[in-house]
Amino acid sequence: MSATETYTPLITNSQVGSSSQAGPSKIAITVDGNAVAASEGELLIEAILREKEIPHICYHSPLMGPIQTCDTCLVEVGGKLVRACGTTVSAGMREVATESKRAQDARAEAFDVILGNHLLYCTVCDNNNENCRVHNTTLELNVTHQNHPFTPKPYEVDMSNPFYRYDPSQCILCGQCVQACQTVEVNETLSIGWELDHPRVLWDGGMQIGGSSCVSCGHCITVCPCNALMERSMLGEAGFMTAIPPDSLNKMIEVVKDLEPEMGYGAVMQLSQTEAKMREERIERTKTVCTYCGVGCSYDVWTRDRHILKIVPLHGESNQISTCVKGKFGWDFVNSKDRLQRPLIRHENGFREASWEEALDLVAQRLGAIKQEHGPDSIAVIASSKASNEDGYLMQKFARAVIGTNNVDNCSRYCQAPATTGLFRTVGLGGDSGSIEDMGMAKLVLIVGSNTAESHPVIATRVKRAHKLHGQRLIVADVREHEMAERADIFFRPRPGTDLAWLSALSRYMFDNGFAKLDFLQKWVNSVDDYRKSLDPFTMEYAANICEVPLATLHRVAEEVAHAETMCILWAMGVTQHTAGSDTSTAISNLLLVTGNYMRPGTGAYPLRGHNNVQGAGDIGAAPNTFPGYQSVTDDQLRAKFEKVWGVKLPNYRGLDNHEMVDASLEGKLRAMYLAGEDMVYADSNANVVAAAFEKLEFFVVQDIFFTESCRYADVILPASPALEKDGTFTSTERRIQRFYQALPELGDSRADWKITQALAQKMGASWNYQHPSEIMAELASLSPLYAGCSYDRLEGYNTLQWPVAPDGKDQPLLYTEGFEFPDKKARLYPLAFREPTDPPDAEFDLFLNNGRQLEHFHEGNMTNRVPGIKLETPECYVEISPELAHERTIASGQWVRLTSRYGTVKTKALVTDRVEAKQLYLPLTAHVNLLTGSNVDPATHTPAFKETSVKMEILPERGEDPLHPLNFRYSGKPTPQMGVEVERKWKRADYHFPGESALVQIQPAAPAGGK
Ligand code: SF4
Ligand code: SF4
Ligand code: SF4
Ligand code: FES
Repeated sequence: MSATETYTPLITNSQVGSSSQAGPSKIAITVDGNAVAASEGELLIEAILREKEIPHICYHSPLMGPIQTCDTCLVEVGGKLVRACGTTVSAGMREVATESKRAQDARAEAFDVILGNHLLYCTVCDNNNENCRVHNTTLELNVTHQNHPFTPKPYEVDMSNPFYRYDPSQCILCGQCVQACQTVEVNETLSIGWELDHPRVLWDGGMQIGGSSCVSCGHCITVCPCNALMERSMLGEAGFMTAIPPDSLNKMIEVVKDLEPEMGYGAVMQLSQTEAKMREERIERTKTVCTYCGVGCSYDVWTRDRHILKIVPLHGESNQISTCVKGKFGWDFVNSKDRLQRPLIRHENGFREASWEEALDLVAQRLGAIKQEHGPDSIAVIASSKASNEDGYLMQKFARAVIGTNNVDNCSRYCQAPATTGLFRTVGLGGDSGSIEDMGMAKLVLIVGSNTAESHPVIATRVKRAHKLHGQRLIVADVREHEMAERADIFFRPRPGTDLAWLSALSRYMFDNGFAKLDFLQKWVNSVDDYRKSLDPFTMEYAANICEVPLATLHRVAEEVAHAETMCILWAMGVTQHTAGSDTSTAISNLLLVTGNYMRPGTGAYPLRGHNNVQGAGDIGAAPNTFPGYQSVTDDQLRAKFEKVWGVKLPNYRGLDNHEMVDASLEGKLRAMYLAGEDMVYADSNANVVAAAFEKLEFFVVQDIFFTESCRYADVILPASPALEKDGTFTSTERRIQRFYQALPELGDSRADWKITQALAQKMGASWNYQHPSEIMAELASLSPLYAGCSYDRLEGYNTLQWPVAPDGKDQPLLYTEGFEFPDKKARLYPLAFREPTDPPDAEFDLFLNNGRQLEHFHEGNMTNRVPGIKLETPECYVEISPELAHERTIASGQWVRLTSRYGTVKTKALVTDRVEAKQLYLPLTAHVNLLTGSNVDPATHTPAFKETSVKMEILPERGEDPLHPLNFRYSGKPTPQMGVEVERKWKRADYHFPGESALVQIQPAAPAGGK
């Protein structure tokens, strides 16, 4: 009987992680005689692990599903040996035996085979940190000798990736890395060459890691149960003896190997246990939340002194095992020599270092004098979307309660404000309607203007996974053919800035063809008739014409939307950074209402928030019109509430937003600014104008971790601390509030933002006395109904809350389940008209310039440019040019070109790629794109139309290398998609035997001390 015939996996990858709507029936089973409650369809191993520990090296979690490569989880069910991870609990199942001799022998045999692929040198191994699953299984099975001798594989260690290494000889071929890559990250780079004489993990079917399609997300390393895949930052750093030179190390390993036949593993393992215990003294494991994008990945950061050993994701609600390259490997900026460590004061043509006392005295004195002479509204404050909720809360309180102005804003003005406006207009709350889980659960995901795989990589993994494994449909509308577009069932390219037209035409199509959810509309939505009338112009033909999309494509999209049981729409800066950003966001929400895609799991609106805490920055009131919790500054009752708690009189009119601050500075009305954690000269549009505005300020304070472009114009620079050096909370795109903890001391004289703002407020007469950010959260919770039930206790560790949080701590993962956020609980359809985008191409400025993020860099690169591995893989900026345009103008990759818009100029290298088409260019944000963008804005929010920019291109005489480094994943990688590990191919090998059923069972686990 072949193993394959008998033990075909009872679970397939297409079932992994799929959500069942109906609740499973309960089945009573016994495990070694003890009753265990189980659910029909659940993996047997999950039920067993609720009762007791058994070995399970290749089984990681329900997210990863059964892999079935290691055979260490064998148990007896009804007298038959089965893999507990590959068997589901079923109606007929009764007795499960894990302790029968047959099951124990089989597991021991399976593990012995594994040790033939892995050399135990734990004491001198950087992975010996009490969580190595191979090491722990050796102990659990009480292995003293091995029968299969360790045989190194005839392959070199691959060190070609700057972040991690693969050691084939230590690889136990469990396939978890492959499963993670193929079914969780869905980058589809890894496979196992099961048919090779010496099977190993392969990148793109057999190339070295560096230069393959590997995006360095780190999933594979996170799940690897041993040291075959390891972070390079761990090598030689974690153990007491692991830094010894390789020659000496190898000699020590040889000694251990020689000892084993005689002494057994007992003494050696004991020594390694002691050494691992000693490491506890020097390795700190601290929970943190990613400081890059708004997905909200959380993980433990392991540190030894200031050295960051590794990032370990496991328990995060948003991400579980997932990270992207920035979260997993992008932390070197924290220890960069460029960090600001002392306050700086402008001096002659530069800056001089100063004490905190002197710097804060100067800031307090100058702001006080300007306020005295020109009034509080001559001063503005900009809070950081990278800093914590508590940092931001104090910044807006400083503006309002200490300076006396509502001139306060944050960078959501540059990206998210239009999406928030669209949601406020239609459904009443400015946040994602559900969770990342809903995006994975939806039957159809429609992505508009979002390069999700590069800008929100972990969210993209959930969509890619659902699309690959669970039959989710995917439609992408974008001007650029990025990864999600390549994967989509339908991809179309609307003319830039015209999304409102096709979205509205789809809404009309639903009404015209009987697909509008009339019952839903009648019960839950207002203004249906007015809205329907406003759709008159939006025929499909009109939209096809305006958007330059084939009519047949729009019909296909409309039919998919009409027939989808559940739909989520994801959008980002490709929508919001247009003059019609708010209206297009509104059109998205209108379409969701018309099709009844709110109020249910797997539905809703998902504006993907850019910065780690841009959602929080809006929530805590870093905005000119709202206090914390989006409470209007012009509402007398609400204002009275804040006046009472803050003990001051507050202005009763809206303040200036970022865009108006720049204008007011140029007009001489704004005289001072306090800017925290935002490089406005790089991030705001029309950089030259922003720089001119800063030059005009009488007094300018910048608080940051690096000397940014904006610092050049500052009078005082205050050194702040990044998230790893403080406690606080961030609120991610799914409204998820999460704590992060201080992992490192503040570097030099740098300080947490909240401490700086408090010290400044005190100098200016405020009697603030917060001892810890938890006290700031308590005040925020007392004033903002959205955060009412938030407290540091409730958010302890990996606990999270999704706002609104009721006073009793009940949160809302899915919004609007009991009605929309308006007094009558009804949503509102919002009539719209189409407007042509601004700054269109003409005879002179004949090319359309798109712009955005790259996977490995965050925005302008202030942090990621200081990560050597990222710099190595992506050393240069470039502009993407279509093959057609390259052909027309005789340009090859590496050619230097000058782009000139109506506002400025940028010199960069060309990269020819079919991601862009015709006369459209794409410039990553690291190339200082805002020297080219203009000052046109969305009238509703003043968000700059970053993506309405026309340029001309001049070909310069110089020609260089291809700007893509050969190590870059875009260079020549060719993924090898498959549905998982394909363990059936292993089972077909002639040398594979199902443990416990052949004559190969020779070893006996030693009896545990005092055992049977
Ligand atoms: S990976 Fe684990 S089992 Fe292997 S040598 Fe290191 S600590 Fe020991
Ligand atoms: S490299 Fe992959 S297959 Fe090898 S031990 Fe690690 S997770 Fe398993
Ligand atoms: S950058 Fe975003 S996706 Fe990447 S690890 Fe951080 S939060 Fe997650
Ligand atoms: S844990 Fe079940 S086969 Fe590996």
